[in-house]
Amino acid sequence: MKKILVIGAAGQIGSELTPALREKYGNENVVLAYNRTPLPDDLAKAGPYVQLDVRNTDKFKEICREYNISTIINLAAILSAKGEQDPLKAWDTNINGLINTLEVARELKLEKVFVPSSIAVFGPTTPRVNTPQDTILQPTTMYGITKVSGELLGNYYFTKFGVDMRGMRYPGIISSVTLPGGGTTDYAVEIFYEAVKNKYYNCFLKSDTRLPMMFMPDCIKATIMLMEADVTKLKHHSDFNVTAMSFTPEELAAEIRKYIPDFKIEYNPDFRQAIADSWPQSIDDSCAREEWGWQPDYDLARMTKEMLIAISKKLQIPVPGLT
Ligand code: NAD
Ligand code: SER
Repeated sequence: MKKILVIGAAGQIGSELTPALREKYGNENVVLAYNRTPLPDDLAKAGPYVQLDVRNTDKFKEICREYNISTIINLAAILSAKGEQDPLKAWDTNINGLINTLEVARELKLEKVFVPSSIAVFGPTTPRVNTPQDTILQPTTMYGITKVSGELLGNYYFTKFGVDMRGMRYPGIISSVTLPGGGTTDYAVEIFYEAVKNKYYNCFLKSDTRLPMMFMPDCIKATIMLMEADVTKLKHHSDFNVTAMSFTPEELAAEIRKYIPDFKIEYNPDFRQAIADSWPQSIDDSCAREEWGWQPDYDLARMTKEMLIAISKKLQIPVPGLT
């Protein structure tokens, strides 16, 4: 049975991807690695877990040997907004963590590696509408620079050493279990908490800032689909475009108002506006569709309804008509 090590398991994506992996492959076969943020109780109790700083090469190898790991999913990263506040930490975590992942996989001859990339690989010189798979990658954030380097390194290790590294350029991920870790698309999660709690949100992006997004169930589905795809069918490896929807803060607020009619939003853009303005508005993910059958399940309307139900349940604040 394949054994998977998930690094960064306590984060926004890890906290929902790992239960899905455990459900599919068995609790004992999915080892969770947290660093400073402890794992939630339910994840820690359900199966094996370890402490690991992804930059610690010796401990990384030791864990892979001890648990007989065949696949590494490395989710440990510093995201776009936090990365601009401490660019060298973003470089250190994202690049040294990735090199360790690839080197451990090469040396121990592991079966597969998954490391997400991001829409942050694109920059102001990239076509912003229906952004193609293979296009100009000139990002203006340190986070974006680490993600482009990561894609290139992944493709290099695949060609040079036969390490089966896979990855996709996640758009902004929207979810209800764990708050996002410091990105530019975080507004699209925060807005739900504030709408349910206060019927008011002070948005850090302008009303018409269109960005590509995806609801967590689609993120989990895409990740597992790419991990399970037949490698002989893949023409790309570490850099697939994927998307589910694109919207602006104004359009999201209008969708929320269908359930909370007196919800108000104000716009006070900060340094994250310049990051958002350098990213695509929409993504062409036809290569993911052709090479491994990608298709999303959630659009803006379906995601908004499910998010409001989940957040109102979590905060124990009823939204009339939904709970
Ligand atoms: P997150 O910030 O919520 O979680 C990252 C986790 O990594 C955290 O639990 C953190 O404690 C851990 N971590 C940080 N430094 C570490 C280190 N040195 N060693 C070990 N662990 C460390 O991020 P996320 O949103 O879950 O993102 C996961 C991956 O997906 C990242 O590669 C990110 O770039 C990518 N991604 C996320 C989004 C999104 O919208 N969430 C979009 C595009 C790409
Ligand atoms: N959601 C991420 C961010 O905003 C995109 O990689 O940083």
